[in-house]
Amino acid sequence: MRTGRMDWRRAEEEKDLMNKDKRILSGMRPTGRLHLGNLHGALKNWIQLQDQYDCFFFVADWHALTTDYADPGAIRQNTWDMILDWFAAGLDPERAVVFIQSHVKEHAELYLLLGMITPLAWLERNPTYKEQQQQLETKDLSTYGFLGYPVLQAADIIIYRAHGVPVGKDQLPHVELTREIARRFNFIYNREVFPIPDALLTEVPVLPGTDGRKMSKSYGNCIYMTEPEESVRRKILQMVTDPARARRSDPGDPEKCPVFEYHKLYSTADEVAHVVQGCRTAGIGCVDCKKILLPHLLEHLAPIWQKRSALERDMDGVKAAVQAGIERAGREARKTMELVVETVGLGNHA
Ligand code: TRP
Ligand code: SF4
Repeated sequence: MRTGRMDWRRAEEEKDLMNKDKRILSGMRPTGRLHLGNLHGALKNWIQLQDQYDCFFFVADWHALTTDYADPGAIRQNTWDMILDWFAAGLDPERAVVFIQSHVKEHAELYLLLGMITPLAWLERNPTYKEQQQQLETKDLSTYGFLGYPVLQAADIIIYRAHGVPVGKDQLPHVELTREIARRFNFIYNREVFPIPDALLTEVPVLPGTDGRKMSKSYGNCIYMTEPEESVRRKILQMVTDPARARRSDPGDPEKCPVFEYHKLYSTADEVAHVVQGCRTAGIGCVDCKKILLPHLLEHLAPIWQKRSALERDMDGVKAAVQAGIERAGREARKTMELVVETVGLGNHA
């Protein structure tokens, strides 16, 4: 099985910086305010892509319902919190199409049609299916909708006839399934309706949370993009460090310290060298070390905070931008669906 991680991005970039013919699509489940892991993981990448490709980015609110169907209360608020964070960080609805999945009903129509041709066995052996069911054992996920999660995702992607799907490693099985479903559709109906999309895996720094584990809402170890300054300061000062440095006089190893990952992202090369040397020789203490980081981190976040509060004061503008995105996405999706409906032999009873 080919996983289709082609590096056409770099090649194309060199050829033409404004390659707006290649279409990129990605989505995020509405988890509410984003943390620094989300910012450096997916969002910065999206923001870079928006100038080079014809980009479509959306809130996967139907996907949120596959796991939270019994408790959907937070989805609406989370959707807007997430969109505000996207825009605050620099995603620009003038340059990328930004929309909400459930507002483009054609995704559901294609999802239904793809359901007809998707073998059950493909879904049952999807690795994320069983994993998630076990991880979220307090929820009953033995539902049709949850099994069909990747079929909906395939519809999201191919309805725009996307060429590239920027995702994290965890989503590769879903992109692979999307490719298989698209190929199967083209094969069964004997027409190249859908291009076969490539996953775009970008190397991103995995930012640890305040306890040193992967930053994740469910671990309660996040620093949020829009967290107030005082609280960022407190979290950094309380963040775990190399456990070998129990006392100020004990030398440490920056590579074993989550704070150092932040230095690599935010501090200058000289400061990083100073931290490495000071840590290994116990020349600096962890508090000193964190105080080198803090101004850089705060400076990085300040423009995001400012943009976010300006946007909050202009919710009408934000909603209008998303509405325009919904309309544009809807037009593209309807174009594809006309071809799809015709191809499967439905429609046009006139
Ligand atoms: N499943 C993705 C996630 O949990 C979200 C998603 C839904 C998505 N549809 C998509 C991502 C289409 C990329 C393309 O992160
Ligand atoms: Fe981590 Fe800095 Fe302390 Fe070293 S000095 S353990 S890098 S916080």
